[in-house]
Amino acid sequence: MRILLGVTAGIAAYKVPFLIRLLVKQGAEVRCVMTPDARDFVSPLVLSTLSNHPVAIEFWNKETGAWNNHVALAEWADLLVICPCTANTLSKMASGACDNLLLAIFLSMRNKTILFPAMDLEMYRHPTVQRNMDQLEQDGSIIVPAEYGELASGLSGQGRLPEPETLLEYILGVVASKRDFLGKNVVVTAGPTYEAIDPVRFIGNHASGKMGLALAERLAERGADVLLVLGPSKCSVSHPKIKVCSVVSAEEMWNEVKNNWDSMDFGFFAAAVADYQPERASQHKIKKSAGESMALTLVKTPDILAWAGKHKKEHQRIIGFALETQNGEVNAKEKLHTKKADYMVLNVPVENESGFNAETNKVCIFGKDDRLWDIPLMQKREVANAILNVITNTQ
Ligand code: CTP
Repeated sequence: MRILLGVTAGIAAYKVPFLIRLLVKQGAEVRCVMTPDARDFVSPLVLSTLSNHPVAIEFWNKETGAWNNHVALAEWADLLVICPCTANTLSKMASGACDNLLLAIFLSMRNKTILFPAMDLEMYRHPTVQRNMDQLEQDGSIIVPAEYGELASGLSGQGRLPEPETLLEYILGVVASKRDFLGKNVVVTAGPTYEAIDPVRFIGNHASGKMGLALAERLAERGADVLLVLGPSKCSVSHPKIKVCSVVSAEEMWNEVKNNWDSMDFGFFAAAVADYQPERASQHKIKKSAGESMALTLVKTPDILAWAGKHKKEHQRIIGFALETQNGEVNAKEKLHTKKADYMVLNVPVENESGFNAETNKVCIFGKDDRLWDIPLMQKREVANAILNVITNTQ
């Protein structure tokens, strides 16, 4: 869950550091954007320390030369939360004004925006403010009404920002609107496997683990309890609903899947598992003096997906991933049937835009009964959501 937290110049901004801590504890990645005047109410240093990211304030930082790209920030976010949202920012947003970074991000957002207006009671009930909130709601933003209570002015009435725990509940409620994997146990294999030749050398491949990780994160956000069996990978993941089990070889990956398979509802086999391993790994480093040439005898590794297909129970669903350099469709369909998968996701090569280390991916999904879903080139995290949508819509 990637949350862009917009902070505007209201006294209630003092609650934002607490909110960031709660969000981070939930496994969210948080980035803050402030309007310039918001700095008078809460320190950017506090927000950047708690969110672990620099705070974006201006389009252009004249001292460092850094450019905050509003489009990239908007694309990054699953959710834009503006908290607190002042009458001034509401008015600018309702009219489409764009004179600061936060407003430009708001206009660039494709995902949802939640607004937490907070101000003094007369301001809050002023017809122009009410009209702006109605307009923004009509335009698709989610407006969380301010609470009644004691206000910074000393007056009492509606205008108060909810306490951080309540803000968190609202945000999680919006994120959780799609909880179609709630209560499901899912195993995801990801990354490459390394098959040892000797203590310092191995047979491996270029898989990064990004696609499997994106799947694990989306599944967890949609309610699943995920066991991520991850081969050697630079990627890291932290989400309370993802248990990471790091492995090295195909054999180790297979053992983890076997030991946990009975309790699973779904298996996503996104790992690029080595097909062969050296028949015997040398105990000691093989020396150059061994000869002018050398032959390595390789034997097949266990096919983890095929094993799961063979041991699949009625309620279990299996999703495989095929990487082909030729005859993609024919081979993917064949793998779907021979490995007894329910879906086979074929990676479709798009120059520089898809494959191991790219952030984007283009896939086709093959289902049983010759069904086909063609998913356009998208960010891997969106591809993961599209795959999950296909599965839940065709159960
Ligand atoms: N797979 C697996 N265990 C293996 C090999 C593959 O679980 N030992 C799984 C992969 O995780 C993937 C699917 O099988 O979900 C297809 O992998 P792929 O490498 O495309 O196919 P292979 O079966 O290895 O066949 P080939 O390499 O000949 O294309």
